[in-house]
Amino acid sequence: MLASELRRKYIEFFTERGHMEIASASLLPENDPSVLFTTAGMHPLVPYLLGEKHPLGKRLVNCQKCIRTDDIEEVGDASHLTYFEMLGNWSFGDYFKKESITMSFEFLTSVLNIPIKKLAITVFEGDVNVPRDEESYQIWRGLGVQEEQVYFYGRKENWWGPAGLTGPCGPDTEIFYDNGIEKCCETCGPACNCGKYVEIWNNVFMEYNKCEDGTYTILKQKNVDTGMGLDRILAIMNGVNTVFETDLIKPIIETIEVITGVKYTYETALEFRIISDHVRAITFILGDSRALVPSNSEQGYILRRLIRRTVRLLKQLNVVGNILSNIADTVIEINREIYPELLKNRNFILDQLDKEYKLFTKTLDSGLKQAEKYLSCLTDGNRLSGELAFKLYDTFGFPIELTQEVAKEKGFEVDIVRFEEKFVEHQEKSRIGGESKFKGGLSDNSEQTTKLHTATHLLNAALRQVLGDSVYQRGSNINAERLRFDFSFERKVTSEELSEVSKIVNKAIQQGIAVKCEEMSVEEAKAQGAIGVFDKKYSEIVKVYSIEGYSKEICGGPHANNTSELGSFTILKEESSSSGVRRIKAII
Ligand code: ALA
Repeated sequence: MLASELRRKYIEFFTERGHMEIASASLLPENDPSVLFTTAGMHPLVPYLLGEKHPLGKRLVNCQKCIRTDDIEEVGDASHLTYFEMLGNWSFGDYFKKESITMSFEFLTSVLNIPIKKLAITVFEGDVNVPRDEESYQIWRGLGVQEEQVYFYGRKENWWGPAGLTGPCGPDTEIFYDNGIEKCCETCGPACNCGKYVEIWNNVFMEYNKCEDGTYTILKQKNVDTGMGLDRILAIMNGVNTVFETDLIKPIIETIEVITGVKYTYETALEFRIISDHVRAITFILGDSRALVPSNSEQGYILRRLIRRTVRLLKQLNVVGNILSNIADTVIEINREIYPELLKNRNFILDQLDKEYKLFTKTLDSGLKQAEKYLSCLTDGNRLSGELAFKLYDTFGFPIELTQEVAKEKGFEVDIVRFEEKFVEHQEKSRIGGESKFKGGLSDNSEQTTKLHTATHLLNAALRQVLGDSVYQRGSNINAERLRFDFSFERKVTSEELSEVSKIVNKAIQQGIAVKCEEMSVEEAKAQGAIGVFDKKYSEIVKVYSIEGYSKEICGGPHANNTSELGSFTILKEESSSSGVRRIKAII
């Protein structure tokens, strides 16, 4: 079975059952600093899970591109990936456990014809705060799933979310595929990672919102959020052992074989798999509608890490020259129909790969030699010092994770605490780490972040008024204290221009203009001159927020009701974000 057929079957199944299809959102979450990348289909839907009304109604379905770097160490085994597509369906206060479980069961057993006995199910066992999910258990049993196929687990296994530090979450029931091999031990079950059970689908019953202070509140509505990994279910449907053998990845591996002359064998499998996974992730990040470039902070840093790790792995396969573009071209070819942004941004993708490759390979060899030298001086039990790790970062461009990897291969650890101290000393306020780094954001829907969001629209409009229509939003990040807005512009904005921008925003605030929200098709929004990211299906109904006389933007909300609520607006800083992109920080 091809990926396209599986996607179509899934979407059809749920649209036939009253779900409206939405397009995949950008990989880079908008206005939400609680995660770096879109890690699940629910992420762009957080406002609706918290109670906002979605213009398409209470049932949605889609296939969402996702990036997860938390599992990066696992990539190379049979089922973990950095980039993957998530098939998902949602109920916002509509159906709940019974319909959700029944639909998942029907899709797997009647549409995909997976025998019931191949399924294993996990259910929340309950704790002091939330009772055991007896209801889900009974539903599964009623569908013909045997008692011994159902496993009860605690929060670690059967509680999902929030995606960042705050947001919607709840107990879940997970569906695993049992590949039929012997249990590895007596306690072997879906939570075991011996390979017998592969997680395919997660049905989350979202009833809670985790707040910034760590407490949970009950959501206004009971939601269902589900997610199924396309690559995994596709591998199962094709009877192959790993996600690297489907039409989504196999051609990438073949391309690497052809260009390098190296064969994909048991010995080289790990490098091949990581390279194909990483180049796929890199191509999708660079090809996203909110394209970003490699840098030393946040998402740009993850991107840089992925590219540099790939370059080093290619070197380990003795590949000479830059073949990143050839591999990326295969990724584009495989995905161009469903994700046309890849082809549209092809030049940008290849150009950035070329630049980063050149930047890194200039110092890679000498850096590796230096690293070997440092490591050869260590004795058992020693750690590579933070100072030397910092030197490798600073002089040779080695992301710390790469240094850790090189050290690990020789059996050593790195003094990461000291490295970070050195890092801060050098004033690089980079945020290294997983996606769930930042607090606050629109995911908390607080009054202050809502107002800052409205301020962002006014700022965007004012910048376009002062600097011209070529200015467009490249990113936005809001927390309770400030807004941060990235936009395309080639030079520094002068202080006169900045004060003009401030003046316009403050005038709009003083005028006390109502913030209006209308629902219309993307087509109509475009015709009315609305700005915003047009990553929706053409006929899809979207929300358009307007501030009469100033701004009209496609946006999910939420917003202040009136500009007067913002009080006053001050720009704190204007600086470069990356080449051709400027960044403004401001408060209200
Ligand atoms: N959001 C849920 C997950 O990612 C479905 O597993």
